[in-house]
Amino acid sequence: MKMEHFIEQKKQQSKEPLCAYLYDLKKLKTHACELKNSLPEFCRLFYAVKANPDERFLSTLAPILDGFEVASGGEMEKAVRFKRPLLFGAPAKKDWELVKAMDSGVEALNVESFHDLNRIGYLSNQRGTPTPVLIRVNLNRDVPESHHMMSGVPTQFGVDEREVPSLLRKAKSMNHISIKGFHFHAMSNNLSAQAHLRFVESCLEKSKTWRDQFDLPLSMVDVGGGIGINYWNPEDPFDWVTLAAGLHRLKDQMDGLTLVLELGRFLTAACGSYVTEVLDVKKNHDQSFALLRGGSHHLRLPAAWKMNHPFRIHAIEEWPYPFERPEVYHEKVTITGELCTPNDVLVKSVYVPRLRAGDVVIFEYAGAYAWTISHHEFLSHPEPEFVYLHEA
Ligand SMILES: Cc1ncc(COP(=O)(O)O)c(C=O)c1O
Repeated sequence: MKMEHFIEQKKQQSKEPLCAYLYDLKKLKTHACELKNSLPEFCRLFYAVKANPDERFLSTLAPILDGFEVASGGEMEKAVRFKRPLLFGAPAKKDWELVKAMDSGVEALNVESFHDLNRIGYLSNQRGTPTPVLIRVNLNRDVPESHHMMSGVPTQFGVDEREVPSLLRKAKSMNHISIKGFHFHAMSNNLSAQAHLRFVESCLEKSKTWRDQFDLPLSMVDVGGGIGINYWNPEDPFDWVTLAAGLHRLKDQMDGLTLVLELGRFLTAACGSYVTEVLDVKKNHDQSFALLRGGSHHLRLPAAWKMNHPFRIHAIEEWPYPFERPEVYHEKVTITGELCTPNDVLVKSVYVPRLRAGDVVIFEYAGAYAWTISHHEFLSHPEPEFVYLHEA
């Protein structure tokens, strides 16, 4: 069913204001296949489950991609049933999560600190089986174009690059630790393909240097995710073709290593929309506001990033009341939610040709870091519906 048909049908069937997440599984399948097929053979494409752990997303992606990257025991539980390779990395792991990861036969576990290494080594010793690990590195320098820096700046993630040699010496001295590779996830929402390529090349170089210096049995270089969605100008998206072509050119530098990409946002964001109805339109201190059934408790991303979420308006002609319909006409409007906080803003002061109470606003790119990063319980409003528009 097309999104517009769904909206019209829903409006006819129910007097309740519309509020739903619409997921397009067919689009997800096509997009995932295109990304996977564009990559060179030495690349493996994993899905970072944290972007959207929806079960139908996972079942759609499982047969297409090379595995799942999970960041908690809960994510591991959701992903393990698809019997695909798993990578487990998290900054603050619990012992039970480490044991669960070992029991689930994860392909590698991230080591993010000396204490992490000690715990993984200790638990592996108790089991008497070696654990394959990736050393997660917080690089000295990062890709400056990215939206969120997770590396190259002080963060809770990974091992400071300057401490990697001493961590490697320690890891090598431990009986049940098998160093499989390095992990470099360093950014979020990078929009430059060239910058991403420079980042991948530098990760590869560093990994080979440490491999040679410490005589490591290295097989994997994991560059994480971080490929961005241009929420500010969706017409100018991340240039995947340039990235894929650049990765193909790395063939001769790979030296038998596998390059792992763990994509979240770029795989799923465009496959979900959040659609919700305007309940009121009004002026306050000379500014116009449209208030939605819904808001940042369902879609927190724009409030968290202090950005305008890309949207379009689906006009609804029917107006059930005998009194006037409030509207804004050819002017700027701020689109807010139903919460009792001025931070519940999804779009700030953006021009619209017309927006009326009863119209539906469609927020696109809501398939990643949307519902699951939002504070659902605040104000106890009913949750949105979840609808799968097209089967995979
Ligand atoms: C370790 C790791 N890998 C992959 C990802 C996915 O990143 P993205 O959704 O930006 O592709 C994240 C996101 O935070 C992450 O922390």
